[in-house]
Amino acid sequence: MTAPAVPALLHPFARPARTDYLRIVRGSGAHVWDDAGRRYVDAMASLWYCNVGHGRTEIADAVAGQLRTLDAFHLFERFTNPPAEALAELLAGLAPMPGARVFLTSGGSEAVDSALKLARLARPGRTLVVSRTPSYHGVTYGATTLTGLPPNRAGVGPLVGDVVQVGKDDLEATAALFAEHGERIAAVVAEPVVGAGGVHPPAPGYLTGLRELCDRHGALLVLDEVICGFGRLGTWWGAQRYGVTPDLVTFAKAVTSGYQPLGGVLVGARVRAALEGDPELVLRTGHTYSGHPAACAAGLAALAITEREGLVERATVVGDRLGAGLDALAADGLVAEARGDGAVRAVGLHPGQDAVALRDAMLADGVIARPIGTSTVAFCPPLVIDLADVDRCVEVLAGAIARLVTSGGRDVPVMGGR
Ligand SMILES: Cc1ncc(COP(=O)(O)O)c(C=O)c1O
Repeated sequence: MTAPAVPALLHPFARPARTDYLRIVRGSGAHVWDDAGRRYVDAMASLWYCNVGHGRTEIADAVAGQLRTLDAFHLFERFTNPPAEALAELLAGLAPMPGARVFLTSGGSEAVDSALKLARLARPGRTLVVSRTPSYHGVTYGATTLTGLPPNRAGVGPLVGDVVQVGKDDLEATAALFAEHGERIAAVVAEPVVGAGGVHPPAPGYLTGLRELCDRHGALLVLDEVICGFGRLGTWWGAQRYGVTPDLVTFAKAVTSGYQPLGGVLVGARVRAALEGDPELVLRTGHTYSGHPAACAAGLAALAITEREGLVERATVVGDRLGAGLDALAADGLVAEARGDGAVRAVGLHPGQDAVALRDAMLADGVIARPIGTSTVAFCPPLVIDLADVDRCVEVLAGAIARLVTSGGRDVPVMGGR
């Protein structure tokens, strides 16, 4: 028998020789369907982004209407377009710091790289940037360098210079770094809740402590809100959830709920003053699709739904229900721990349990969760999910664990999905 051929499509974050893909063809609310007609609960909002749920014709119509009016036109130099301006106004008003302006990109990694450049530009003479382990900031070279996950940088070096990493909640190590290099540190970059690095909320007081250290040493605080932004934690921003005012905020994902690729940076007063105060400076960065009008139209429509349907508040309801369910599994000893905040949650597994095998077993029962490494299974559902489907995610996880224990790690599908 000959091995199946690999497809033309080379998949991100997959073994290049992989051939077994699950083809998703349709979505509605918190559900998606595969090409065999099986329905799944999308317990990850795709990849941490689909807050308003799938199949929103209102967003599709906004994008189509914009494409019919003006398909695209760039923002470089003196050009602008109405959807980009309107989205920037809206985001500046929502920003967790006063007087912000908005720089637009096509996604989160570009946002992170842009923030890195803006921080260094705003702090001339300082080039050091501090990030944390574990953390995830994306895949461009700047974002790969900032990311605190060693496997993601294997084999692709050399990376960007002058980036130093410290443990995620380790204020002492960060203070020591500032004591030694304070004059050279331009910025510290942190996710409010570490997402793809394993779902770790900050230790109490950690982010405010980080803010104080930055203030004491003249460094900027960059919050990477690519997952936490737009309601995931029950507030518009993680900054508000943890009572900290950042200088720069990176965003992407739920700004459009994924209906179009879009990201950006909220640029606070300190950075603005440095940039706007230099009459010689030209901001020589930006992307062909910075401010793409169709993407901005999607953002305006997705954020209108987020506001109108009270999805920021709903994140707390969804998160509390999910958290309680996962806590109960931990209390019963089925998993080693449950962690998370708002509507982003995870379980940490016991040695011998395998996150990928569990995810696959859950797929067979019609729930799409996400393995992180081998010892974490993450949940980040659309904020419109029914509570019955939240419960189902927890039941299916529990069932998959029980099945994998009794089958010695090899899954024996019992339901074949729905
Ligand atoms: C916190 C964070 N920053 C940056 C990124 C990179 O975003 P993108 O994949 O859109 O480049 C991600 C993606 O998951 C993320 O979670």
